[in-house]
Amino acid sequence: MMKELTVDLGSRSYPIYIGEGIVLKIASLLEKNGIKPTSPLLLITDDHVAAFHLNTVKEKLEQGGYQVNVHIVPAGESTKSLASLEQIIRVALEAGLDRNSVIVALGGGVVGDLAGFAAASYMRGIRFVQLPTTILAHDSSVGGKVAVNHPLAKNVIGAFHQPELVLYDTELLLTLPPREVRSGYAEVIKHGLIRDADFVSWLNEHADELLALDLDLLGHALYTGCKVKVAVVSQDERETGLRAILNLGHTIGHALEAVAGYGVILHGEGIAIGMVGAARLAVQLGRPERIHTITKQIFQRFQLPVVIPAQLDTDAIMAAMMHDKKFKEGRMTFVLPVDIGEVDIYEELTTEQVRAVVSELKQEGLLCG
Ligand SMILES: NC(=O)c1ccc[n+]([C@@H]2O[C@H](COP(=O)([O-])OP(=O)(O)OC[C@H]3O[C@@H](n4cnc5c(N)ncnc54)[C@H](O)[C@@H]3O)[C@@H](O)[C@H]2O)c1
Ligand SMILES: [Zn+2]
Repeated sequence: MMKELTVDLGSRSYPIYIGEGIVLKIASLLEKNGIKPTSPLLLITDDHVAAFHLNTVKEKLEQGGYQVNVHIVPAGESTKSLASLEQIIRVALEAGLDRNSVIVALGGGVVGDLAGFAAASYMRGIRFVQLPTTILAHDSSVGGKVAVNHPLAKNVIGAFHQPELVLYDTELLLTLPPREVRSGYAEVIKHGLIRDADFVSWLNEHADELLALDLDLLGHALYTGCKVKVAVVSQDERETGLRAILNLGHTIGHALEAVAGYGVILHGEGIAIGMVGAARLAVQLGRPERIHTITKQIFQRFQLPVVIPAQLDTDAIMAAMMHDKKFKEGRMTFVLPVDIGEVDIYEELTTEQVRAVVSELKQEGLLCG
């Protein structure tokens, strides 16, 4: 069965299809969305995903009459670079991609962000299609934020460029390494914590089957997570206000990723700890303790970390957060829960309040060994 959602952005609206085996229908779904096999197409993926899924996707596109050029990038965050972008532009030119061509991103957030930014910049913008293959990519493939990294900072060279469609075949996720599965669920849980308390309970109830990648339940989880993202993005495409709530757990999470060295702590792991930190801050500001208890419990159910590893230096974590543009004159902006399923933006947190929570989370890390 195929579930469908629409990202409602006027002339830039697009569908998200979610279901088992739907990649087999890729050619007809592209045609249905106005992508005809007239101009050459560029399929971008990474070497891990290519080993499992490239042949199927390429074959189905070719059966639909598409002229497919393939570009395989090395897996990993370091691929989101200007150097990789330059290579893609070269491949696109050599393959004769024109303004009617389409770039298809087959992979996780790294491939989606890179291929999406290539599509945004090639010939001032051509169309692109997202074929997410990670759980985390239910977040990154929707909403049109595309980017590469600069050596000094993540995602700072980028654009808003919405895809033509998102085709999410849950079967492709069966080959994910277990740690990527757990990490990906952190963003799914985030969408529940932001907007949908019932979804948090549902996730809690089905954690074991979800971790085992039961495809029916996984499809429902991705659909519900995407639905929250879609609702937020449809109201605030360019993050002038509301969209910032999607950053729950990310201020602390990004700092932990940066201090540990990218790839040591995965994105989902960092934000899981960050969301527990946000819940603690909320409790200190007078919100009920159960916000913290439930937040911590749901991440533990998904075998995600909830404390800061003891070896990470508190000063370094604080310094990494200071680089964040959300800091002004000793005051910090944080997205914090006001209840399970509801968040608000707080602009007046002091660095002392944040440091105290970072220290507590580290102290617990020491106790856990
Ligand atoms: N654009 C956005 O709105 C947005 C939102 C969140 C995150 N992101 C970005 O997303 C990136 C992280 O995405 P990610 O977690 O998907 O990482 P990723 O793309 O690096 O994928 C994680 C790992 O899993 C492998 N993999 C992917 N699919 C697989 C499959 N089906 N089978 C086996 N292996 C598979 C990849 O090769 C990689 O080694 C970061 O760069 C982050 O900045 C972007
Ligand atoms: Zn994230």
